[in-house]
Amino acid sequence: MLVHDAVIIGGGLAGMRAAIEAGKEADVALLSKVHPLRAHSNAAQGGIACVLEKDDLLESHIYDTVKGSDFLGDQDAIEILCSEAPENIQELDRMGVIFSRMDDGSIAQREFGGHSFPRACYAADRTGHAILHAMYEQLLKNRITVYPEWYVLSLIMNDGACCGITAHDIGKGETHIIRAKAVMFATGGYGTAYETTTNAFANTGDGCGIASRAGVPLMDMEFVQFHPTGLYPRGLLITEGARGEGGILINDKGERFMKRYANAMELAPRDVVVRAMQKEMDEGRGIGGANYLYLDLTHIGREKIMERLPQIHEIALNFAGVDCAEEPIPVTPSVHYSMGGIPVNHSGEVEGIKGLFAAGECSCVSVHGANRLGCNSLLEAVVFGRRAGRELSRYVRKAKLGSLPETDGSKEIENILDSDGNEKVPDLRETLRKVMMEKCGIFRDRKGLQEGLKAVKELQKRFENIYISDKGRVFNTAFIEAAELHNLLTISEIIVHSALVREESRGSHTRTDYPERDDARWLKHTLAHRTGDGLSFSYRPVTITRFHPEKRKY
Ligand code: FUM
Repeated sequence: MLVHDAVIIGGGLAGMRAAIEAGKEADVALLSKVHPLRAHSNAAQGGIACVLEKDDLLESHIYDTVKGSDFLGDQDAIEILCSEAPENIQELDRMGVIFSRMDDGSIAQREFGGHSFPRACYAADRTGHAILHAMYEQLLKNRITVYPEWYVLSLIMNDGACCGITAHDIGKGETHIIRAKAVMFATGGYGTAYETTTNAFANTGDGCGIASRAGVPLMDMEFVQFHPTGLYPRGLLITEGARGEGGILINDKGERFMKRYANAMELAPRDVVVRAMQKEMDEGRGIGGANYLYLDLTHIGREKIMERLPQIHEIALNFAGVDCAEEPIPVTPSVHYSMGGIPVNHSGEVEGIKGLFAAGECSCVSVHGANRLGCNSLLEAVVFGRRAGRELSRYVRKAKLGSLPETDGSKEIENILDSDGNEKVPDLRETLRKVMMEKCGIFRDRKGLQEGLKAVKELQKRFENIYISDKGRVFNTAFIEAAELHNLLTISEIIVHSALVREESRGSHTRTDYPERDDARWLKHTLAHRTGDGLSFSYRPVTITRFHPEKRKY
């Protein structure tokens, strides 16, 4: 049996940052279903937010984030996020992240939606890639044990405490128990629950799904962020940095339509921009009447595009055949980020379960509330990844290895491989993605959400009747896809049901039947608990320290 002080699941930025910190004084292992250098943090393009300039103010970063969150973000957590940003950026700089620079050598910063100052530090349009690589070097330098291409199957719990996991070595086809004093989820988002997404295939909400089935309530899952500019039709990310550099959105009539919706135009927060885009398309002003619009960068000029947005140029050319220095890019709102997740305190601890931690997108601390501002997610990953890593290290130094209950590590894989029904995983997955897109998208209403919930529950039933023709164990991707679908189905039910229950519009959650924000009833966090009989809901107050809710105007 494998034994470590702590095991961190997820090789993206939050997981690696936590592992480096905790690994200073503890035996930490990092387990990731893809090699850490292929983690989805790689795909973060436009930047990481931080107040660096003397003309910018910490107060203003905090306020922008609170307002961006539609006042649902917890203000004490937001204050930590913003005030610890500079030391984290300096640390990244010292680790060797190749930030783009000004002529005087200082870190260059660009504009991003909802931020009142250009405070996105960037590495051209490959910021996540640059940070991830520097972080991986630190992981190697610190000799952290890595289990690459291992897939977590379940948490092992004993008496309300977490004492390990079961995990599958994908390449060897072996299932293992990893015993540990503490477990941390840093498994990222669930964008593949939706048909159009900026997310990688690997983003299947594994941590949230497993935690929920282990009895952890999930918080604020109704808040699903659509990014305005996914490359049409599949949704590959075209960074908001392109609008930060001056890109504009155009409808079929050639109008810069954002002028009708926000003074901030294309640099309003994402929830505002995607609602405007969807309205344009719903009213027939999508390009050629279809479900996309144009992002026009041609006026920026080839030289600046190649310096600041080289990857966007490459993506548009390779995937849409568009030279964006000459022609506009076809874009459509695409699922990008989960504001909700596993509820944690400021040190990444999951309340009520000893030895369980979470950080990054799969967690909810809640710094993003109902709508995240661009560039605050990389920041959250490093700030709260580092904090969680510190607490994890403190915890395991004091804790003892818990006794393991009798655990059959192979149960999950046997259940799936032995299943002899007639439902095919890809069919169920593609149906789920359409249901989520149609019934729980940018605009929602009771009827659609009820239909969506019913459809997800039907898919869960059909999942019990799946058949996988590959019965082998070595590199059995069909098995992994089935386990991932199990997680997607678990969290999709929570997303849709939480959205049905919240009868107001706030941030990314827009109910056409309840078009106004309703602070009297809904200025509170949702907690969705799995019971033997479906879901039940409880609520938690929002922490408000200095900014009282007001109407958002951009
Ligand atoms: O558009 C982007 O580059 C995405 C950034 C983010 O989600 O923070």
